[in-house]
Amino acid sequence: MGIQFKNVSFTYRGIKTSYGALNQINLQIAQENEFVAIVGHTGSGKSTLVQHMNALLLPTQGEVEVLGQTLPPKKNEKINHLRQKVGLVFQFPEYQLFEETILKDIMFGPKNFNHTDEEATEKAKKAAETVGIGPELYEQSPFRVSGGQMRRVAVAGILAMEPKILVLDEPTRGLDPRGRKDLLNIFRNLHETEGKSIVLITHDMDIVSEYAKRVIVLKDGAVVFDGTKEALFDHPRFDEFHLELPTPLKILKHLEKEVQLPYQPQYDFNSLLNYLKEVQHE
Ligand SMILES: Nc1ncnc2c1ncn2[C@@H]1O[C@H](COP(=O)(O)OP(=O)(O)OP(=O)(O)O)[C@@H](O)[C@H]1O
Ligand SMILES: [Mg+2]
Repeated sequence: MGIQFKNVSFTYRGIKTSYGALNQINLQIAQENEFVAIVGHTGSGKSTLVQHMNALLLPTQGEVEVLGQTLPPKKNEKINHLRQKVGLVFQFPEYQLFEETILKDIMFGPKNFNHTDEEATEKAKKAAETVGIGPELYEQSPFRVSGGQMRRVAVAGILAMEPKILVLDEPTRGLDPRGRKDLLNIFRNLHETEGKSIVLITHDMDIVSEYAKRVIVLKDGAVVFDGTKEALFDHPRFDEFHLELPTPLKILKHLEKEVQLPYQPQYDFNSLLNYLKEVQHE
C-alpha cells in the first residue's frame, strides 16, 4: 500500500495563467520503515508533490494512490479521512495555531475526526508528551510560548490524529540548531520505535545525511534521482543535481586534497569521527 504516483502531472490554473508544477512523476513510498528526504531547488515542486500525498491537491494527469485508495479527479468527502491517515506538517505550521489553549489546539484534529472530548484529550496529551510539551503548558495560549514550542505544538496537533505516514515540509526552517535537533530527533524516534514512514522536505544536506535513508531529488517538477543517500552523494554526476555535499563529506574531500588522506565517504558526523580516530591510530 503506502503512497504511489503513476505518471503524475500537476498544473496550477489561475484566471489568466497556468503553470505545470509537476511533470510525469513516478514514485512509491512504503507505508512503513521509510525515511525519505525530498530535496531540490526552490520552485522545483516539492511542496506541490507532498500536498498530493494527503489529497490536498489532486493530480491534473496520472494517478495517485494513497493507502489503497485512488484519488478522484475532483474533491469529495471520501478523501477527507486521508488528511488524518497521512499527517502533513506545513512550512511554518505555527501559523495555523488558533485555539485559546495549547491542549485545545492539539485536540482539534482528533475532534474534527469524530473523537469524543475524552478520547481527543487523551490523544492530545500523548502527542504533547511525544514532542516534549509538558502538562504545565496545556492551559497556556499557544501564542505565548517560544517559536520552537509553537512549532512543537503544531506538530503535536498532527501527531494527535495518529497518522500512519508523516509528511513534513521543511519542519525545522527558522529554528535554532538546538530546536532543529530536538525536533528531528522526535521524528527519528517515531521512525525507529514505531516504524513510521517519514517524508521530509529539506534544503539542508546535513539533515539528509544524518537522518534520511532514501532521497528523491526534484528538478523542474520531475524526479531526477531516487535512491539511497549513499548512492546520491557518490553519484558520478552529483554536480548536475546542483546540491551541496553534507559537511562530513566536504571535510573528507578537503582532507583528501590537503593531507592526501584517502577519500572514504562517511555520511554522518559520528561515522566521520570514528573514521578519523581509526586513521589516527594507523
Ligand atoms: N498556488 C500556486 N499557484 C500557482 N503557481 C504555484 C502555486 N504554488 C506554487 N506554484 C508554482 O509551482 C512551482 C512549484 O512550487 P512549490 O511550492 O511546489 O516548490 P518548492 O520546491 O516547494 O519550493 P520551495 O523550496 O521554495 O518551498 C513554482 O514555480 C511555484 O511558483
Ligand atoms: Mg516548498
